[in-house]
Parts: sequence; structure tokens; C-alpha cells
Amino acid sequence: MRVLTIIPTYNERESLPITVNRLRAAAADVHVLIADDNSPDGTGQLADEMAAQDSNIHVMHRKGKEGLGAAYIAGFRWGLDRDYDVLVEMDADGSHQPEQLPRLLAEIPRGADLVIGSRWVKGGSVVNWPLHRKFISLGGSQFSRIMLGLKLRDITAGYRAYTADTLRSMDFNEIDSVGYGFQVDMTFRVARMGRRIVEVPITFVERELGVSKMSGNIVTEAMVNVVRWGLSARAETLSAKIKSKLGK
Ligand code: GDD
Ligand code: MN
Repeated sequence: MRVLTIIPTYNERESLPITVNRLRAAAADVHVLIADDNSPDGTGQLADEMAAQDSNIHVMHRKGKEGLGAAYIAGFRWGLDRDYDVLVEMDADGSHQPEQLPRLLAEIPRGADLVIGSRWVKGGSVVNWPLHRKFISLGGSQFSRIMLGLKLRDITAGYRAYTADTLRSMDFNEIDSVGYGFQVDMTFRVARMGRRIVEVPITFVERELGVSKMSGNIVTEAMVNVVRWGLSARAETLSAKIKSKLGK
């Protein structure tokens, strides 16, 4: 199983080397792609220096800050072109512990198409999050679960492993979520394709270095999209029912 972990970065100079070193130690066979959005703090240059020391580390330099979703899609394309079997998403800031990656990957040979590192299933947790972040995350998952009819607990989660086959069967051009709503978007698409999604408990540790890029706009974008997707899915179901009734 050839595995590529994609790490999107925007101003993660302090955290990135720590996370990548932990990942290389915890899963030596796993290759790394850092997708940097031309970080003003020089993260991209630092990533180049890391890649020069280790042939399993690669860097993608992007024009500017275009959001998490766009960075991941570019990373997926890069990995699919190079025939990786599994593509992993991991934050640069240490919140997604590299030591827990083997537990996520273990679900792939068992038949999972998408493995979600979940904070909100039994055994999962969040360390050092203020109450309001817990509230946004739990609320966001609950809202998406109801609107989209998904049975999952952590729908906005960012620690994931996709099989290449799952990603190949999607049309990335249809995805326009800029912020973290991208995660919900992807989950909903994979679920509607009838693919197998498995949640594995993780311990999410809030970053100690640097700052979060989460913003009010990101939350609003995600909420508006979830409502849109939920309503259009309901409309599709309804029109299919009407058509089948009229046909009879
Ligand atoms: N290339 C790129 N471009 N990277 C970005 C961008 C961007 O526009 N925005 C954020 N990132 C990177 C950060 O540098 C970091 O590596 C990762 O994406 C996550 O960003 P954080 O800002 O640390 O996110 P968070 O901790 O607030 O949010 C976490 O929870 C969200 C909600 O549950 C993450 O796990 C998200 O993936 C998750 O959706
Ligand atoms: Mn973070």
C-alpha cells in the first residue's frame, strides 16, 4: 500500500518540522506532500529545505491563500498522478497525531473507502479546546448530520484517509467549498456514492504554536452550503418520487 500524506500549510513555520518529523518516525513508509499557499512566514522555503534532506518529502508551491479545499484537491491530483493507493489529510499544527495514523490506515485493508479520525465517537477526544470551539465542532456535525442525513459523528474532521479509487471516482471540478466546509462536502459525496466510511477515534490536540485559520466566514460558508446541499438532495428525492408515481 503506497500512502501519501498531504499537509496543507499557511504560516506553519514553527509547527511543520515537528509534525513532519513525528510522521516520518511513526510511519516511515508514508510519503509526505506539503501543499503551501505561499505562506508569508517562509513555510514554503522551510519545506523545500526539509525535502532536500529527505527524498520522501515533496513540496507543492501554490500561488497564494486559496483555502484548505483547493490545496487538498491540488494535492489529491498530484498523488493520483503518481499512483499512490491511499491519500491522507493531516493538519500541520500537530492536532492530528502522526502516531495515530497506523490506526486509521489499518481500516483500509478491512474494506473502508474513507477513514475519518473522529473526535466525537467513543474513545475520541479533544485536548485544550475552549468551550466555543467544541460547540462549533459538535454543532456543525449535528447540523450536517440532520441536514444531510448522515450517520457519522465527526463530519467536519480533517484527519482522514481516502482510497485512490474513491477519489478517482469523484469530479473535483464540482467542489467549490473554500474553507473547512470542504470536509463536509467530501463526506457527503463519498456517502452518496455508496462508499464505506469508517470512523476511528482520535485524540485531537489543539495546537501549541502558531494560530488557527478558522474564521467566521469559514463557518458561515459551511452552514450555507450544508443547507443548500440538504435542500437540493431532498428536492432530488422528491422529484424522483413524483416521476415514478406519474410513470405508473
Ligand atoms: N494551503 C493552505 N491554504 N492551508 C491552509 C489554509 C489555506 O487557505 N487554511 C488552513 N490551512 C492549513 C493550516 O496551515 C493547517 O495545517 C490546517 O490547514 C488546519 O488549519 P487550522 O487553522 O489549524 O484548523 P483548525 O485547527 O482551526 O481546524 C481543525 O478543525 C476543523 C473543524 O473541525 C482542522 O482539523 C480542520 O481540518 C477541521 O475542518
Ligand atoms: Mn489546528
